[in-house]
Amino acid sequence: MTNNTQNSNQTQANQSWGGRFSEPTDEFVKIFGASVFFDKILAPYDIQGSIAHATMLQEVGLLTEDEKNQIIKGLEQILAEINADEFEWSVALEDVHMNIESRLTKLIGNAGKKLHTGRSRNDQVATDIRLYLRDQVDDILAEINRLQIALLDLAEQEASTILPGFTHLQAAQPISFGHHMMAYFEMLSRDAERLVDTRKRMNSMPLGSAALAGTTYPINRERTAQLLGFERICLNSLDGVSDRDFAIEFLSAASIIMMHLSRFSEELILWSSAQFHFIELPDSFCTGSSIMPQKKNPDVPELVRGKTGRVYGNLTSMLTIMKSQPLAYNKDNQEDKEPLFDTVDTLKACLRVFADMVPTIEAQRDTMYNSCKKGYTTATDLADYLVNKGLAFRDAHEVVGKSVSYGIEHQKDLAELSLEELQLFDDRIENDVFDILSLEGSLCARDHLGATSPNQVKKAIKAARKKLI
Ligand code: ARG
Repeated sequence: MTNNTQNSNQTQANQSWGGRFSEPTDEFVKIFGASVFFDKILAPYDIQGSIAHATMLQEVGLLTEDEKNQIIKGLEQILAEINADEFEWSVALEDVHMNIESRLTKLIGNAGKKLHTGRSRNDQVATDIRLYLRDQVDDILAEINRLQIALLDLAEQEASTILPGFTHLQAAQPISFGHHMMAYFEMLSRDAERLVDTRKRMNSMPLGSAALAGTTYPINRERTAQLLGFERICLNSLDGVSDRDFAIEFLSAASIIMMHLSRFSEELILWSSAQFHFIELPDSFCTGSSIMPQKKNPDVPELVRGKTGRVYGNLTSMLTIMKSQPLAYNKDNQEDKEPLFDTVDTLKACLRVFADMVPTIEAQRDTMYNSCKKGYTTATDLADYLVNKGLAFRDAHEVVGKSVSYGIEHQKDLAELSLEELQLFDDRIENDVFDILSLEGSLCARDHLGATSPNQVKKAIKAARKKLI
């Protein structure tokens, strides 16, 4: 419970709905049922929604021009009070909606009591969360874009840097470090697409669904939607107040982004270890150990990897919150906010720290190169070479297997074997074999769309830059 949320000493039942109650709410139940501790961050969206609603109410004749103006002025003052941290939040008023409405009525009197005409907190909160999330998605997309640009810059700088590509975490074939960075670029492109897609469905307005069945007033939903920038209107009032699919979709998209960042984190953690030492992370993104003076711990990627679990947990929470709810609104839905807000904050922070950290990654080119030399990573190239000389691929595979085994026994990489040694396994091998056994030769030979040659990596970066803008 936050400090600036003050416990009201109100002993009566809540003013907004207390008409049929003869006993006040239990003191702890007030706290237990309140959402103001966390939903107050919706305040700017609640006010935006209320201003649009009041504007529409006036246009259809349900408010006078003067009442509408008073409401808007009052709401603007409330927003200023909230922004200046001067607003007195009351737990007895349960949530952000009733806190604002109560303050409005205090400020402007009777006109304030008319604002809730033709709406319910059920459609109000459903609208607020969509407005909030739509804004957040835009911020998140901007952060993804920033991270993608950082990846492109690093990839460009390291397009010709060779490191072993792994399968099963065993050195497999030489690849370009730039190509490896571009793999994350691709993942983030899909992540951005998913968010854009989710945003479309989020951009539908529940307001006008009222409590669950719509309202008896002659409201103009199209107009309110237009004022709030919604593309569409929710077409069924029961669904309008109870649908949280958009939040679940967002949490799914967020979980996938975190999964990608977590895989990247895992690699950065491995690569920055003394055993790999493929990269160096700057001191400003690492911490030391209080007991082991030699340590430089990759806290940032470790935290991102850890926070992935938290975001997955939020997705599971939301799916579970929704799974047994009969139509339409139930108080269970109040539990939608914390997982959602926490995911937004976590995701934004992780993307931000990654976008800041990626430009600081220093590729340790020599270590990567030497590591690649150790793992017989050009064995496939030798097999391909033999196929070009007329062998069937399976036979070539066998020949190369024997050469590798010979190399292991004599502690030599394939490129270190002499021509005579190589010819022990197949006499079709000639001097030109050394062109393809070199790491550079192997890398440059994979020169088609989507492959790892520096030439292709540079082309991919160029195309990606065009796509981003
Ligand atoms: N604080 C509530 C929520 O977060 C607002 C809607 C309450 N509606 C109601 N009928 N109790 O969902």
